Amino acid sequence: MTLPLPQGFLWGAATAAYQIEGAAAEDGRGPSIWDTFSHTPGRTLNGDTGDVATDHYHRWREDAAAMAELGIAAYRFSIAWPRVMPEGRLNQKGVDFYSRLVDALLERGIAPVATLYHWDLPQELEDAGGWPERATAFRFAEYASRIGRALGDRVHTWTTLNEPWCSAFLGYASGVHAPGRTDPAAALAAAHHLNLAHGLASRELRAVTAPADGRPAWQSVTLNLHHLRGEEEAVRRVDAVSNRVFLDPMLGRGYPADLLEDTAAITDWGFVRDGDEEIIAAPLDVLGVNYYSPTLVRQWDGVSPRESADGHKAGAASPFVGCEEVEFAAQPGPYTAMGWPVDATGLEELLLRLHRDHPGVPLMITENGAAYGDEVGPDGRVRDDRRITYLRDHVAATRRAIGAGVDVRGYFAWSLLDNFEWAYGYSKRFGLVHVDYATGERRWKDSARWYRDMIAEPDATG
Ligand code: NOJ
Repeated sequence: MTLPLPQGFLWGAATAAYQIEGAAAEDGRGPSIWDTFSHTPGRTLNGDTGDVATDHYHRWREDAAAMAELGIAAYRFSIAWPRVMPEGRLNQKGVDFYSRLVDALLERGIAPVATLYHWDLPQELEDAGGWPERATAFRFAEYASRIGRALGDRVHTWTTLNEPWCSAFLGYASGVHAPGRTDPAAALAAAHHLNLAHGLASRELRAVTAPADGRPAWQSVTLNLHHLRGEEEAVRRVDAVSNRVFLDPMLGRGYPADLLEDTAAITDWGFVRDGDEEIIAAPLDVLGVNYYSPTLVRQWDGVSPRESADGHKAGAASPFVGCEEVEFAAQPGPYTAMGWPVDATGLEELLLRLHRDHPGVPLMITENGAAYGDEVGPDGRVRDDRRITYLRDHVAATRRAIGAGVDVRGYFAWSLLDNFEWAYGYSKRFGLVHVDYATGERRWKDSARWYRDMIAEPDATG
């Protein structure tokens, strides 16, 4: 039996600025670390960049119309910091773009869920030291305040950061994401300053936003929590440096003692100043959770070749700093085109864990989805049955967690459109809607129709 969904549950779809917008040098947008990184030979597959991407900057009306047809109640997008505040100055043309988009969403009855940072740090701030520098957090708060004032009467949910783990550890430890640095101490400092940025920005947003409909905007952050399975000690270590490093200070518990111990050889955490933890613990109305697959870990014996089935290349710098004795084990398939195992029970378990460890914190699944090698058939159809199965199973897992008492406020499919998948360029397609990158043409995949039908009658889909 399927329990009815809570009142006001938000079915949505998600995207991010650099992955879809294109128009990289238009209307005053400045460069971000992802422009620099993707234009550096060898950093992205096939040298792909977000210069044009899906050309959403010009096609946003068409995309908003597709959202309305899908029947989504909310759209999660990100605001490009270098578009609205290049060189630290407000760029009105950049703000106007998001303002028009927000209005178009509201006209269609779609709640705007805006993320302030989905990895596109203005290049000038990286040149000044990037996230390992404390000043970056204050620049972020200023940006939050300015954009909050501009759109704060209309945005339903504000998300400060998307997946700060990726920004800190893929950006500064393993270097597979922009800015491509491999310095574990810098990565830990970056994690702290991202936390601080979140706290400072939440405070600003709370102060300056006042939705016209009288309903206070929700403040949130989105984390990619690793759902860990395997040997206890390995799970504890990876959990500390990938999950609790964000979760605990944000939810008012400060940095976990075991994290500080595990990383003591890398840093003394002297960058954490008195009062920082209080700022980071700014009240959260909802916690965004991105989930794709579980992670299996065990202690490494130090002798046999170390397994690294989590996507980071064996031998290359690991994003899991302080976890030198851990190996990431292969898991049974099926797998998506990313090589990630498909396992919806992980989502249910993760939601239950969050509910148990942090009771009273409402959750929202801000990303869930799968990449497959979709092809347009001779009849023009994209038959993506595996994506439908993936989504159906994960929606069912979400509903089981809700049935068990977890407060889940919404579910966002990643992604509305095929897009620039970071270091993988355009080779991985996550969209409900197919994009022909040569022409920009959009085409609904079968999964988009399935999602539309499910949203129209969620209780009919088990
Ligand atoms: C998480 C990120 O937020 C998003 O940008 C990315 O495309 C998806 N995961 C898929 O990897």
